[in-house]
Amino acid sequence: MPSFEIAEMKSVLASVSLAALVTTACLASPSLAQSPVALASQAVPAEAVVRANALIARMTLEEKAGQVTQLFMFGKPEDFEAGVRAGSTGALLFVTDPTLINRFQKVAVEESRLGIPLLFGYDVIHGLRTIFPAPIGMAASWDPAALERGQTVAAAEARASGIHWTFAPMLDVTRDPRWGRIVEGPGEDPYLGAALARAAVRGFQGDRIGAPGRIIAGAKHFAVYGASEGGRDYDSVFVSDSQFYNTYLPPFAAAIEAGAGNVMSAYMELNDVPAAANAWLLTDVLRRQLGFQGFVVSDANGVKSLVTQGYAADERDAAVRALTAGGDLEMAIAPAANSGLAEAVRSGTLEESVLDDAVRRVLIAKIRMGLFENPYVDASKTETVLSDPAHRQEARDAAEKSLVLLQNTGSILPLTPGAHRRIAVIGPMADSVDDTLGSWVFVPKYEETVTLAEGIRRRVGADVEVTTAPGVQLRRGVPSMFEMFRPSPAAWTSAQAQAEFERAVEEAREADIVILALGEGAMMSGEMASRADLSLPGDQLRLVEAVKALGKPIVAVLMNGRPLDIAPVASDVPAILEAWYPGTEGGVAVARALFGDVNPGGKLPMTWPRSVGQIPIYYSHNITKAPTEQGQRYWDEASTPLYPFGHGLSYTDFAFSDLSVDRASVAIGEPVVVTATVTNTGHRTGDEVAQLYIHQRSGRATRPVRELKGFQRVTLQPGESRRVQFELTRAELRYWSAAERDWVLDPATFDVWVGGDSRAQLATSFTVQP
Ligand code: BGC
Repeated sequence: MPSFEIAEMKSVLASVSLAALVTTACLASPSLAQSPVALASQAVPAEAVVRANALIARMTLEEKAGQVTQLFMFGKPEDFEAGVRAGSTGALLFVTDPTLINRFQKVAVEESRLGIPLLFGYDVIHGLRTIFPAPIGMAASWDPAALERGQTVAAAEARASGIHWTFAPMLDVTRDPRWGRIVEGPGEDPYLGAALARAAVRGFQGDRIGAPGRIIAGAKHFAVYGASEGGRDYDSVFVSDSQFYNTYLPPFAAAIEAGAGNVMSAYMELNDVPAAANAWLLTDVLRRQLGFQGFVVSDANGVKSLVTQGYAADERDAAVRALTAGGDLEMAIAPAANSGLAEAVRSGTLEESVLDDAVRRVLIAKIRMGLFENPYVDASKTETVLSDPAHRQEARDAAEKSLVLLQNTGSILPLTPGAHRRIAVIGPMADSVDDTLGSWVFVPKYEETVTLAEGIRRRVGADVEVTTAPGVQLRRGVPSMFEMFRPSPAAWTSAQAQAEFERAVEEAREADIVILALGEGAMMSGEMASRADLSLPGDQLRLVEAVKALGKPIVAVLMNGRPLDIAPVASDVPAILEAWYPGTEGGVAVARALFGDVNPGGKLPMTWPRSVGQIPIYYSHNITKAPTEQGQRYWDEASTPLYPFGHGLSYTDFAFSDLSVDRASVAIGEPVVVTATVTNTGHRTGDEVAQLYIHQRSGRATRPVRELKGFQRVTLQPGESRRVQFELTRAELRYWSAAERDWVLDPATFDVWVGGDSRAQLATSFTVQP
């Protein structure tokens, strides 16, 4: 069989214009010049390099080590000022008060020897004050434009507060819902993840690093953090190169192509080498193959942890090896391992040019952000930006778009306005501000958050009685590390727990309809929040059973950051609306969906298992020998998930038809255009996400049974039809082959499906000729 190997890197190189290369600094810096891939979107202005080099020439070794040191500002500001003044701290994180940011910046600019400004980074994950749905919820919107708008708002609020850079987007594809950090990422699919990555980077950064009102985007955690063994946070990852390139890398490649200025290395070891000091990852793949020209930051204390992981002999060795592998800035709780770098250069264990390369990348970021000209933030304007009502409107729209209608037996939803005199909103998520916001939220205005109970109250007005009771208190067995920022309320006594449970059931008994707000507390997912059991925590199932026994109509609203084992709820409750952690305006958005003012149109970005034993379960698996795709994989559990990837219902119905390809046979490398019609066959306006999947029938590797290669969210009026069109180019049809150790295109027949989820039935095919 003829081989049609593509040297993708070469073609990328060839596509970069000479002009782009000339305006970049690639040639000015020896280490950057080694990159075989040069992306125009990663081009560094030559004058920034010249300026950075001039500074480097004046810096002492200690100042260089300081420039690649970023410290958590935990504790008293005074304790950090001396380091800033001495030039031994180049960046800070966890400062959000603009006055404090200016105070530190003044010390850096006016009192340090070289006057180099500080870079302020922060976890602006789904908003700063105005909180958008958690990232997994934004992924469920299948609407990159909505995500871009949301991150534009987040950037505006952050920049107005003095923050220059965010540790987002988190792009870790994962197929294990036991892993807590699923809530922060794009879900299980590389194609959806790549689309979201591009949108998030555009939202944060705008059209260039240093654009007004924007901040540097930091793609994290590089790479494969989401494949930790057993879903245990920080645990080892063992993946093949083919899984690495085909499944885990695409969102990062997309972020870098979109111009992301920063990448954060991951904590865990990839195939026995910690990511923070993994030269293959940070230099071969990131810089040479992907063409990244920005700066790499370690994850928090990730350099020091090289010692804990049994990789580095001591902290100085850790600092040297992280830097030599391709890391630049160390993020640490003081003292940083990088404080030993000057001595390492003096003793000959580190080449000064390696340190200079890292320093240069950090300085270039500061130069591009305009910090030498404008180091300070105008604190008198911060509040105006943070309280902009347009931000809340965006947050509400985003929350509405993120909602996924998991089931709606008997079309119990939408509720008819005015049909109920008394509504009970019951459950731990019913009126909980923290759980409406989710994790990675530190400085919102808690009092501005609209909970579900409050949202329903506002929607139905004063004539309808809305009662609420948590019924159950959710607490983690092991406290979350984030409780240091916001302590959890005291645990209920058993008498209180009993009384609260009974009160909730009583409220349900008195009501015409019960909205059960269930899920996982915000601190139950996120970092260090892995679980071995995915059932609803606490006494929630007992609450479901007690309410069900009352014989009232029930609707469940879920707030959670990952698929949960909800099989008992799915069989007991006819309608389930997945709301994720919907953010500041969450209660308004969910209430509007419950009453049909908006029609849910989100889709699952994760396959939803029936039980924890099915994990990992993902739609894009390979076809194996018997049992076949539909066959039985376990004798004690169904093989199919509870809800497939891409699933999400609507209050209206959609039909797909007229699927066609423009050419049934193409030469290798030629594009194919796929077209289909989607029609709203129901009686309400609604959104459908047209999803295109392919399968390559034969080739140099077995290819997944289905792979998402296109999607489009469309709004259709009742009876309206729309032609949706997708182009399958080399980018969609190529894959990384272990046999060739390169990206390849195979001549083969490809099946194509277009429909409303990953089980789409409408099919056609085309053949790629040798
Ligand atoms: C997390 C990162 C985060 C950093 C700073 C780490 O523990 O893994 O995602 O950006 O802390 O808060």
